[in-house]
Amino acid sequence: MKSAVILISGRGSNMQALVQAAPGLDFRAVVSNRPAAAGLAWAGGRGIATRVVDHKAHATREAFDAALANAVDEFAPDYLFLAGFMRILTAGFIDRYPRRILNIHPSLLPSFPGLDTHRRAMEAGVKLHGATVHFVTPALDHGPILVQAAVPVLESDTEETLAARVLAQEHRIYPQAARWLAEGRVVFSGADVVQVRGSGVASDWAISPRDPK
Ligand code: GRF
Repeated sequence: MKSAVILISGRGSNMQALVQAAPGLDFRAVVSNRPAAAGLAWAGGRGIATRVVDHKAHATREAFDAALANAVDEFAPDYLFLAGFMRILTAGFIDRYPRRILNIHPSLLPSFPGLDTHRRAMEAGVKLHGATVHFVTPALDHGPILVQAAVPVLESDTEETLAARVLAQEHRIYPQAARWLAEGRVVFSGADVVQVRGSGVASDWAISPRDPK
């Protein structure tokens, strides 16, 4: 069975979705850069090893990333899942795990990289918003896309209602991506394009790609 470590900074609802879905990966540890991250207690309560690498205890990004790599490498994971992990990683860290770091981002990339995605989507007047699971490269929020889910932006939406609708999709597609990785179905075609063997785009276009039903 392939293994993974999950990196969090906060409540960890995506971490919970990953673990509870039991996608066929051995989740060996949860690592947080914030000692107070609520997700740590949840993971600990499930018997998953937890580690804290406090970014405030390190003077530079390089020093923090070196300590983070030490914490991760203790568990020798095949994959790293960033799940609400709010630190920008150095190229040195990312290059250590080529095509092995995944991130969930709350927008339809390449639109709205960075923070405050829901507010910015509403201000831009887009009619579709959503979430993206992608491989992490040194270009922030721009790595090869594995799966996306779209939701409508409603006239009645507030930032909070839109965020909640997107989060529900995050909790579907991140475990889906983990399952595809566990099954060995994720293939790169070229440097930037990812395909999932055996998946089709069915009539429900709101998630692409998806397993044929
Ligand atoms: C999610 O919306 C994730 O996409 C973004 O930060 C939020 C983290 O939520 N990067 P949680 O900690 O997984 O609940």
